[in-house]
Amino acid sequence: MKGVKGVLALRNLKEVQAIVDKALIDYVEERSKDPAMKYAKDILLAGGKRFRPVLGCLAYEAAGATLDEKMLRSALSAEIIHTATLVHDDIYDQAKLRRGRPTLHSQHGIAHGIISGDYLFTLGYWLGAEQGPDVIRTLAETCVGLANGELMQFEHIGDLGTSPEDYYEIIDGKTAGPIASVCKVAGMVAEAPKEIIDALENFGWEVGRAFQMVDDLLDLTGNPRMGKPRGTDIYEGKMTLPIIHALTTLHGNDRENLEDVLMDFGEDRWDELFELLEVSGSIGYVRSLIDSHIQRAIESLGTLPNSGQIQLMIEFARKSALRST
Ligand code: IPE
Ligand code: IPE
Ligand code: MG
Ligand code: MG
Repeated sequence: MKGVKGVLALRNLKEVQAIVDKALIDYVEERSKDPAMKYAKDILLAGGKRFRPVLGCLAYEAAGATLDEKMLRSALSAEIIHTATLVHDDIYDQAKLRRGRPTLHSQHGIAHGIISGDYLFTLGYWLGAEQGPDVIRTLAETCVGLANGELMQFEHIGDLGTSPEDYYEIIDGKTAGPIASVCKVAGMVAEAPKEIIDALENFGWEVGRAFQMVDDLLDLTGNPRMGKPRGTDIYEGKMTLPIIHALTTLHGNDRENLEDVLMDFGEDRWDELFELLEVSGSIGYVRSLIDSHIQRAIESLGTLPNSGQIQLMIEFARKSALRST
């Protein structure tokens, strides 16, 4: 009965998540003889949300294909490249915790962190290569965009003049691009027509923007499931959208106070920060932008034939936005 529409429509998000989780465990086992896997497996299996691979699998079925080994390995490619970026990111962000556990480099040293991250990038490209040069090219473009976003973010550390346009360029590179990429790859592996691949990619861009904005809000409001302490962005001097919005909206004393709070932040200043964000309406503003990006993502699926699989993608997009409440 495999491949019959009615059977496919019975899938739910938990089922897709479980299939992805198992595929990752099996893949770690497949590479268990690699010395570097000894270090990489802890973070790979530490239980991230697996947002990118699950979305890739949903996009594949929305494109009319039935989830198979080809797509699962492409989905793992996205998750493993993502994990590589996290291992390296934690080195240059000097982070102590990731996915609720000590970061790889804080446990095993910076050399092991760099090597394990390189190893994970390699595995990710290798898995992508199984699907041919177009997929590899897409992964390469995504990682070039990622490097651009990360570098640009550094250029704007502590830059109170960062504009919303700068912010979009940063998050498109570091977050939305990789999410769009897995959706595009899903369409390519499904051998879908160009307009379907474009629609899936566009869905990924919009959901990815919303995803990063949710992450920005969670950094302020905190969430034990994040696996890292709240306020990390503020301590790092990262210009997230709620902060950029507040800086452009507030004037006079409020603007001066906000600048002072950001430049000299500490755990005793949370109340002051929230009072200022309340005056500027920045949390509500970011929430409404998240909603509009999710709405645009859903609209971009308009060219795909309506199916249970599309409904799952929509449910997934809406749930990702709800992380922030
Ligand atoms: C963290 O990504 C970095 C961002 C781009 C926001 P995730 O929030 O997907 O992290 P995991 O994979 O669930 O740990
Ligand atoms: C995560 O970026 C890594 C990349 C997207 C390359 P961040 O530094 O913004 O995210 P967290 O807070 O460490 O998860
Ligand atoms: Mg970072
Ligand atoms: Mg970081």
